[in-house]
Amino acid sequence: MFEAKTYTERRRKLKESVSEGIILILGNVDSPMNYPANTFHFRQDSSFLYFFGLDMQQLAGVIDVDTGEEILFGNDVDIEDIIWMGPQVPFKDNAAKVGIQQSFPFNKLFETISEAIKKDRKVHFLPPYRAENKLLLQELLGISANKQAEYASLELIKAIVNLRSIKEACEIDELVKAANAGYEMHVTAMKMAQPGVWEQKIAGTIEGISIAHGSVPSFPIILSQNGETLHNHDHSNILEEGRLMLVDAGAETTMRYASDFTRTSPVGGKFTQKQREIYEIVLAANNRATELSKPGLTYLSVHLEAAKVIAGGLKDLGLMKGDVDAAVKAGAHALFFPHGLGHMMGLDVHDMEDLGQIHVGYDDETRPVDQFGTAYLRLGRKLQKGFVITNEPGIYFIPALIDKWKAEKINTDFINFDKVEEYRNFGGIRLEDDLLITDNGCEILGKRIPITPDEVETTMQNA
Ligand code: GLY
Ligand code: MN
Ligand code: MN
Repeated sequence: MFEAKTYTERRRKLKESVSEGIILILGNVDSPMNYPANTFHFRQDSSFLYFFGLDMQQLAGVIDVDTGEEILFGNDVDIEDIIWMGPQVPFKDNAAKVGIQQSFPFNKLFETISEAIKKDRKVHFLPPYRAENKLLLQELLGISANKQAEYASLELIKAIVNLRSIKEACEIDELVKAANAGYEMHVTAMKMAQPGVWEQKIAGTIEGISIAHGSVPSFPIILSQNGETLHNHDHSNILEEGRLMLVDAGAETTMRYASDFTRTSPVGGKFTQKQREIYEIVLAANNRATELSKPGLTYLSVHLEAAKVIAGGLKDLGLMKGDVDAAVKAGAHALFFPHGLGHMMGLDVHDMEDLGQIHVGYDDETRPVDQFGTAYLRLGRKLQKGFVITNEPGIYFIPALIDKWKAEKINTDFINFDKVEEYRNFGGIRLEDDLLITDNGCEILGKRIPITPDEVETTMQNA
């Protein structure tokens, strides 16, 4: 964990930005896979980690905005736990490591919350995403699980989004570590991408690399020669010569900071001319987004600029036609690029998504766009120094989407459907880097994973 003062300072800022009442932040608990004692790997709640730092189960933090008190609730282990789990640090000592002097047994939380409710005090809580915490909140607050998101505190959500959006120097160090693990994962995957290799073997190998770096992948690995399926978790295919392997994967550090990269490699180590041409367009869109990203510019505008690079490149190849700006305005590029350019990243790979994308990615000034493709953009608002974001344009040939647009005559002014047919079995290409927004621009986090077609081929041929 970071030094105690990091957490103390974060809580101080949180208290300053919430007007009154008490703030309740729940940690997560172990969750069973197939019987109670066989649990999924434990993942602490990210806001709990941000303010209270302790990566262990069944804890809750309460911050009293009016009195300034900060309390952690949790239990000390007993002798039976010590026999099975080994010696444990006393709970109050763990609390002290994150600057908390008051700690109580977990069950005292019920009394604390019920007293606050009796006194008609505001209890600020976050929208829960785990069944266990929905049940707990139901007991603590008497709000049924399906109503809790509605009653979650908007004031608290906004205060947390403001704080967590701007990464501190100690957080950037962690994000660079996550990027370094991601580098090794991706270079290893590239080198393994040979005909006859089972996708699962590569996915398992790079998952192992993330674990060897101390933690786990930051999300389930996406790896497939069917890269046109955006989040393809099926790794059952045997790689074939002439196909493209898309790998979207990252690592989480021991401190739970994430990386998230995508690379697309030609199975066997050599791009065909057709692959190289599409690849160069995606790379140009990625480079353009990096070149543009800086404080004060909306990521929505960067997304649209990347879309123009894609539409322009596809026009040059004869797949699109007409005026590029008009094509992007009409959303015609989304046949090939049907997702957003990127998202915030930090303690979560899609940072703070549990708090509500609308609060993380948009504000009063920049509102979401309700158009197929751009509607999936998770981050649209103005960039600020200290944001860490992803830059992940792509071009995909999704047969079902092509058929739908063709049948429904969607954007026929901008799409050459006959030419598109020639790419029906192409697959997909996505290239994703992680960016830190700086004073005047941005920098790529970590050493950039081989990305030009020549760099990728050289890496693969040196396997
Ligand atoms: N992890 C999927 C993505 O790139 O957002
Ligand atoms: Mn990704
Ligand atoms: Mn991403």
